[in-house]
Amino acid sequence: MDYFEGKVALITGASRGVGLATARELVRRGARVVITARGAERLESSRSQLARMGGEVIAVPGDVGTWEDSHAMAAAAVSGFGRLDILVNNAGVSMRGDLAELAPEVISRVLATNLAGAMYVTRAALPSLVASRGHVVFISSIAGLFGLPGASAYCASKGGLTGLCESLRLELEPSGVHAGIVYLGFTEHDPEKRILACDGSLVPPDRPAHHPQSLAAESILAMIEKRRRRLVMTPVGKLGMVAYRVSPGLVERAILFARSSRLGIYERFS
Ligand SMILES: NC(=O)c1ccc[n+]([C@@H]2O[C@H](COP(=O)([O-])OP(=O)(O)OC[C@H]3O[C@@H](n4cnc5c(N)ncnc54)[C@H](OP(=O)(O)O)[C@@H]3O)[C@@H](O)[C@H]2O)c1
Repeated sequence: MDYFEGKVALITGASRGVGLATARELVRRGARVVITARGAERLESSRSQLARMGGEVIAVPGDVGTWEDSHAMAAAAVSGFGRLDILVNNAGVSMRGDLAELAPEVISRVLATNLAGAMYVTRAALPSLVASRGHVVFISSIAGLFGLPGASAYCASKGGLTGLCESLRLELEPSGVHAGIVYLGFTEHDPEKRILACDGSLVPPDRPAHHPQSLAAESILAMIEKRRRRLVMTPVGKLGMVAYRVSPGLVERAILFARSSRLGIYERFS
């Protein structure tokens, strides 16, 4: 029997992108899923798509940046399916711009969604995850492994997920709940994806993909099944993590060189 058969998973930010790809993979492997996002129309269309695959799916519109909506997301899994085995904290928003130029609302929006949002939903889901001795997974980024210029709020939010996951793993040790974190590389994105510019406007992302969404989804499920603590995707991520531990100064010089180069190296690899 497949590990995911009959399990109940809650995936935040699953109306498109990595979250939807993860929901698709979970449905394919027999899980029942709760998907969430703010945009109700797109969420409902994703729910129908998953239902057409044969999935038992509940869609809960809401903003992870608020406690009330986060609580409703976790409650929907229990009221709809009677339990919760897996929480994937995937909802996130990216940004561009040096801190000196950032509108304050960009800072608060990125931290509320990427960091406080993951804490709220996890906090709301904890009793059910403890009851099932389940899994909580945080979707971070290579940008959570070390700082990048022009991405301070995003790096702070994704780096913060490391501290959150590590603390939680210790707190949950007696309960048998697995806490893991995935550092994604730059992933294929849907045409509708938008990120925050420094003035708070929404603009299309400007980086080429390093891996497809389906690979991200399969890797997330593999790390859940193996109860792994951490997964770093892409050779750039793995190399960067090791290099930064050995010589942070060298990595910083390489990043600054890449950013100043006219060959677009920084844009291709950050
Ligand atoms: N794509 C990449 O290259 C990449 C690389 C590293 C890490 N990541 C991380 O992977 C995750 C998914 O990225 P993605 O590229 O798939 O993003 P995406 O295409 O922009 O999808 C983000 C999803 O989250 C939802 N969302 C955004 N803000 C929300 C909020 N406040 N409350 C609830 N839902 C919210 C969006 O729907 P609504 O807008 O309707 O709410 C959407 O369903 C993010 O955490 C991202 O930081 C992505």
